[in-house]
Amino acid sequence: MRELSVIGIGAGDPDQVTMQAVKAMRRAEAFFVIGKGAEKRELVEVRTAILAEYVEGPHRIIEITDPPRDRTPEDYTGVVQDWHERRAELLEAAFEQVDGVGAILVWGDPALYDSTLRMIEHVLARGRVDFDYTVIPGVTSIAALAARHRVVLHRIGEPVHVTTGRKLREQGLGTGSTVVMLDGDTSFTEVPGDDIHIWWGAYLGMPDETLIAGNLREVEHEIVTRRAQLRANKGWIMDVYLLRAF
Ligand SMILES: C[S@@+](CC[C@H](N)C(=O)[O-])C[C@H]1O[C@@H](n2cnc3c(N)ncnc32)[C@H](O)[C@@H]1O
Repeated sequence: MRELSVIGIGAGDPDQVTMQAVKAMRRAEAFFVIGKGAEKRELVEVRTAILAEYVEGPHRIIEITDPPRDRTPEDYTGVVQDWHERRAELLEAAFEQVDGVGAILVWGDPALYDSTLRMIEHVLARGRVDFDYTVIPGVTSIAALAARHRVVLHRIGEPVHVTTGRKLREQGLGTGSTVVMLDGDTSFTEVPGDDIHIWWGAYLGMPDETLIAGNLREVEHEIVTRRAQLRANKGWIMDVYLLRAF
């Protein structure tokens, strides 16, 4: 039976690739790399650099171009489902090209805001290709953020809530600490209060890594300005942040 390894590669720093990930990479004969446009080119390059560093044997890289997705739909769930369907079809066609062990390198950890595992289940459910698969965990962008700021994500015994920019705008802060990912709209500016601390990080583990921390009301303007500059320079940005009342 075909085998597939879903390998978390960490959030951008090749030194954060685990030994377990390296061993799994060395067993694979083909790597499926899912990319999509500008951001994506550099993210694909991180993956190919990781392969060049850790995998010596012969291997194939099969690039899969992500289908475009409507970012501001009325029917968000329906659009995402349709997008997953089209992605699954592309993966299926790619899997059919490999008979032995294939691998997918997933940014950060496959269990955190990543649809690869759902797509794989979807491909299996369609029944056109059959394979067994294993998941290798990776360092998340949240772990990278906490490490670079040398901060614990929560106070002793308190919860930490992980959410998206969209949900932060809709629901506000919960109790304890909140980590926000996938925020294209600097949603922290809409969080009320003068007693919030923010730990913000962009391009963590990558050459353009940028960190800002402080009282939210005092540093929010600096983050918004800096974020816009960075985004304009590179054409894309990835950032994540932790919020907590003092
Ligand atoms: C689709 S999610 C993937 C998360 C990934 N699976 C993980 O474990 O971190 C992408 C979001 O992760 C965060 N992210 C991932 N890598 C990052 C990095 N190197 N620096 C800052 N944020 C990052 C950003 O919030 C970005 O919008």
